[in-house]
Amino acid sequence: MDANKKFKRTLITTALPYANGPVHIGHLAGVYVPADIYARYLRLKGEDVIMIGGSDEHGVPITIKAKREGVTPQDIVDRYHGIIKDSMKGLGISFDIYSRTTSDIHHETASEFFRHLYDKGEFIEKSSMQLYDEAAGQFLADRYVTGECPHCHNPQAYGDQCEKCGTSLSPTDLINPKSALTDTTPEMRETFHWYLPLDKWQDHLSQWILEGHKEWRSNVYGQCKSWLDMGLQPRAVSRDLDWGVPVPVEGADGKVLYVWFDAPIGYISNTKELLPDEWEKWWKDPETRIINFIGKDNIVFHCIVFPAMLSAYGDGYQLPDNVPANEFLNLEGDKISTSRNWAVWLHEYLEEFPGKQDVLRYVLTANAPETKDNDFTWADFQARNNSELVAILGNFVNRVVVLTGKYFGGTVPDAGNLEPIDTDALAEIASLKEKMTELLDGFHFRDAQREAMNMARAGNKYLQETEPWKMWKTDPERVATVLHTALQIVANIAIAFEPFLPFMSEKLCSILGMKDLSWDKLGRNDLISSGSILGESALLFEKIEDAVVEAQVAKLQKAKEENAKQAWKPEPIAENVDIEFFSKCDIRVGTIMECTKVPKADKLLQFKIDDGTGQPRTIVSGIAKYYDPEQLVGKQVCYIANLPARKLKGVESCGMILSAVNSDGSLTVIGPTGPVTPGAKVG
Ligand code: MF3
Ligand code: ZN
Repeated sequence: MDANKKFKRTLITTALPYANGPVHIGHLAGVYVPADIYARYLRLKGEDVIMIGGSDEHGVPITIKAKREGVTPQDIVDRYHGIIKDSMKGLGISFDIYSRTTSDIHHETASEFFRHLYDKGEFIEKSSMQLYDEAAGQFLADRYVTGECPHCHNPQAYGDQCEKCGTSLSPTDLINPKSALTDTTPEMRETFHWYLPLDKWQDHLSQWILEGHKEWRSNVYGQCKSWLDMGLQPRAVSRDLDWGVPVPVEGADGKVLYVWFDAPIGYISNTKELLPDEWEKWWKDPETRIINFIGKDNIVFHCIVFPAMLSAYGDGYQLPDNVPANEFLNLEGDKISTSRNWAVWLHEYLEEFPGKQDVLRYVLTANAPETKDNDFTWADFQARNNSELVAILGNFVNRVVVLTGKYFGGTVPDAGNLEPIDTDALAEIASLKEKMTELLDGFHFRDAQREAMNMARAGNKYLQETEPWKMWKTDPERVATVLHTALQIVANIAIAFEPFLPFMSEKLCSILGMKDLSWDKLGRNDLISSGSILGESALLFEKIEDAVVEAQVAKLQKAKEENAKQAWKPEPIAENVDIEFFSKCDIRVGTIMECTKVPKADKLLQFKIDDGTGQPRTIVSGIAKYYDPEQLVGKQVCYIANLPARKLKGVESCGMILSAVNSDGSLTVIGPTGPVTPGAKVG
């Protein structure tokens, strides 16, 4: 039985990305590519579906960025909303609407939502002590404060969350809080806010999730369970800020709705904007199925806070049926970061890899972080393109089209008499359809794409076994049957891959003259009819050369270096010492007479130094990564002469050469600025 039968339509929402930067592959893999696959799949099934997206344009990430650049928050969101919207379109993410939370309709909707809860008495109004930045003259909400995480002691935790251990925090939880605006230590001041008493909804939500949605992904279910087990607390839904939706209550000057209160309402506003006359049935009809695509850091807001808001509102609002949240995608082994510019940006990818949208879509789905964090590497990108898209998929389609051109002038030949080998191949395609359907219904996109690829594998195997190119002279009728069958497989591939690789699918449709794809037809052997004429053949995929991915890796490396430079601050000065303590340290200048590599130690160089005694001094130093041995011979350096001798990799080292640590971690040896008598004392 189809579990989704009882539903008439599906509303797909995608987390609204903050418009404080462009979107990167992490956003795509976590939210937009899977949501798009699902939406396209349902459309192929002929279901009534809409996919809602938009930019999240409020909140502290935006105002901080604006302040840093000396522009207004509106300037920031205008810039990034445009980039995000265009780039998503460029990748074929098929939103029915992509709008924004600064729109009038959103401000009205969010404002009305708050006011309705306020009038119903759903909020508690409470005073509390909050951090206040005297120098900036404002309260410090959320990311305006950084400090030490009370749980894992990460010194860079934000006032709303520690990105290291994932704990969600309040600014007042931080140890040694600092204002992100002025770098000063904030003071405590009293203010008041409205709180949504989540505890009131504890039983309702427990029942709904823990009893009613055991089928949810274990990461989602598990996170909800742990929140519910801890016991829900009232949560503030307003902030002292001047950017956002003003709190629509008298006496609330200078207060706006908390961004996590207004942003999910954006899903509703955007539905209204898309369908002004019938938006309500998409939210309030129990026969609508709502699916929220998000990343794992958004789970609590979509499974606890927003459902509590919707329940408090009442009036028939439906809760999501599933929230298939993904884990995170890393990049070359490191966490993706907008602020550190450690990312592959979609708008740049589209420019640098024109016509290769499907390659990125394919690789992101193949590495989808569905059950655990996953890693994107350029080496894997190249390998999947070259050995899967080109060698398996492109190769199969190309062989079939070229052979049909060569033997039949591009006309689809008659089926003739199918032999078991032909019917087996077609039966395999039909069975792959069953598997794919089950996987897609269960949000297992990575595995579903693998089954689609197995159709191309089955096609290649079929050609390999039938070898039509060997039979043309002796048995042209058999060749006709084989190519007819192979063309049906190609047509199946066009359908099966449409949700994943829509650009390729479109090309196949134009070659095969197929229109109106539908999931129902997948698995059939009569998708194209004998006698129809194939269109122009088109290159589906092409090999990606080493130089191309090497350039991408170099670009990332450069970003890393730039970032290290920008983020670098001199180390804090150590505690004071008295002069006697210092004079105990005997620093001398010597001239390097010889320098060689220490065998079997890639970090070490061994020096013979003229220290004025007539007896060369041996010192071993860990600077081999930064200097070639010959480079240093003849140079003068400073070294500490009265450290006890110690053995390094079998060589006795008498002293330590001084060097400075640069922002990128590299070392520069320290020496005098003019000639110095070897053995002279530094002090
Ligand atoms: N902007 C948020 C983020 O990037 C997501 C908002 S999702 C919505 O984490 F539900 F609030 F819209
Ligand atoms: Zn932490």
